[in-house]
Amino acid sequence: MSTPVDHISASAEFTAKANSHKEGVAFDYAQSVRDPDAFWGRIAERIDWVKSPTRIRNVNFDADDFRIRWYEDGELNASVNCLDRHLETRGDKAAIVFEPDDPAASAQTITYRQLHARVCKLANALRELGIGKGDRVTIYLPMVPDAAIAMLACARIGAVHMVVFGGFAPQSIADRIADSGSKLVVTADEGWRGGKAVPLKANVDAALKLSGTASVETVLVLRHTGGDIDMHSPRDRWWHEAVEDQPEACEPARMNAEDPLFILYTSGSTGKPKGVLHTTGGYLVYASYTHETVFDLKEDDVYWCTADVGWITGHSYIVYGPLANGATALMFEGVPTWPDASRFWQVIDKHQVTIFYTAPTAIRALMREGDAPVKATSRKSLRLLGSVGEPINPEAWRWYFDVVGDARCPVVDTWWQTETGGILISPVPGVTEMKPGSATLPLPGVQPALVDAQGERLEGATEGNLVLMDSWPGQMRTVYGDHQRFIDTYFKTYPGMYFTGDGCRRDEDGYYWITGRVDDVINVSGHRIGTAELESALVAHPKVAEAAVVGFPHDIKGQGVYAYVTLKQDEAPSDGLKKELNALVRQEIGPIASIDHLQWAPGLPKTRSGKIMRRILRKIAENAPDQLGDTSTLADPTVVESLVRERQVPG
Ligand code: WTA
Repeated sequence: MSTPVDHISASAEFTAKANSHKEGVAFDYAQSVRDPDAFWGRIAERIDWVKSPTRIRNVNFDADDFRIRWYEDGELNASVNCLDRHLETRGDKAAIVFEPDDPAASAQTITYRQLHARVCKLANALRELGIGKGDRVTIYLPMVPDAAIAMLACARIGAVHMVVFGGFAPQSIADRIADSGSKLVVTADEGWRGGKAVPLKANVDAALKLSGTASVETVLVLRHTGGDIDMHSPRDRWWHEAVEDQPEACEPARMNAEDPLFILYTSGSTGKPKGVLHTTGGYLVYASYTHETVFDLKEDDVYWCTADVGWITGHSYIVYGPLANGATALMFEGVPTWPDASRFWQVIDKHQVTIFYTAPTAIRALMREGDAPVKATSRKSLRLLGSVGEPINPEAWRWYFDVVGDARCPVVDTWWQTETGGILISPVPGVTEMKPGSATLPLPGVQPALVDAQGERLEGATEGNLVLMDSWPGQMRTVYGDHQRFIDTYFKTYPGMYFTGDGCRRDEDGYYWITGRVDDVINVSGHRIGTAELESALVAHPKVAEAAVVGFPHDIKGQGVYAYVTLKQDEAPSDGLKKELNALVRQEIGPIASIDHLQWAPGLPKTRSGKIMRRILRKIAENAPDQLGDTSTLADPTVVESLVRERQVPG
């Protein structure tokens, strides 16, 4: 018998005040998918358009007549929506509250009026540096308000920002600069993380020595830690000098709804990371709509999303969604466990945070520290909790709900992807009954379905591959520079449907339970890493003949990285070589990509046609040698026997 699943409703107090219960707010899912034009046309009115769209959607998922366009004759500017339109009513309201890494350093508050002025000054400086509509700008900054300012300054002048997470290494920065053809890089001297300085400018210097980066003309440097760095004249310019004499007003570029807003690279099952391209109108409508709906946003909320702006969560739910909605967003440069495991909760008390949005990996890491660091704080200000990035196990959900939220605050488990631009499956707090571990139901206008390996639609309570049957305004429009790859990756596996790459179960109430990736992407602490990227880093070592990487269940990270490495003939395994290989991966990709377990493999299990059988490697890594499944196509079964015998014990 399966264990009964809890059904949890938001408290009567929460529900009574929920936006979803306000008059005129209809969560009529059936209507939203019956007449998507009417529904999304109405939702688009929440945004200020220079020219209102008359065409709402123009979509076809069939490969031979493929198109995804939303609001295509509309015109707007994203930064105007995030700044100018709030000045009259919210000019003195805090737009961003900044909590530095060091708890002893003072927090900063930036009002909408101040943010507007700072964005305009930087936008003017960028224009003076030769940046205009359509130019790509790389942003490699710590979690400081200036990161949001740099993004919005690009949006103001129609430049396309491409943010690189601060945990990526020079090679990864260089690959992204080369692929996007960026003209300018915005960085800082250093960032802070848990009391340690991160050498951002030095990483940019190293990246710009690598091939493919010649498009970069200027590096704009924010002075943040005051650490010692090299400035290369005339390429490198100080941010504070560039903005010094700039006016505090800047004419916004008039953008078409389908003009690019940003590119953000993400890992897929094959090859190098893809440049996910989002456009202006649909993305902004969707980020702002979902931010208000899912987080039950109210005028006086203090909203904190702990993601980094280097990920899509930071783009949609620290910058564009909250600021388009005139919210107060907290930005935190530090980490959850420094100086101690109480930091998150202390920050919540200090800034009276009402809405808190974080990742399961952080929840699990903090849960391991016990209840005391949580209980030492009040958290009375909290009224809503959110989770994103990976499946949240029911135990972690319960702890989050019971201990962090004192059983008072609904938990919204939000499922979405870099590609989707915003949340697609999530409870609407006050409306949707929650079940710990389930992302629950699709938001209005969103049409998920489950299909089997052949693409046949599965009905009722079942398990299968998660697809979306129709578009939504926040959907990515292309892979930058490779439209065919976009179509091949997402619309060819199951023709006419968008394939998410996720497996999923649907229960008897129609609730969705995401089970994780079904492709060769691993989700380590909510960070997507392609096994192909890890493998190509490993085989770059002169002693390595072949490598195969799979994920395995990890208590804190969700998934860990398990690598099988075959050495060239006459090369001997050693602990020293293991260290070298790990260092190589960190150097090629970045500190987010470290190997948890490395097993020397005399050979890899392959089919007779030479294809590595990852399914088998996954089972060995999971320590489930009795579930290897069909091994009849193996070229050499003895390879598997020896791998099972020599398996590394995770833990
Ligand atoms: C996973 C992050 C279960 C999923 C916004 C997806 C989740 C991938 C959830 C996208 C969730 C994200 N429950 N799994 N609530 N949210 N995922 O592009 O596998 O960094 O495909 O976007 O994370 O990761 P990405």
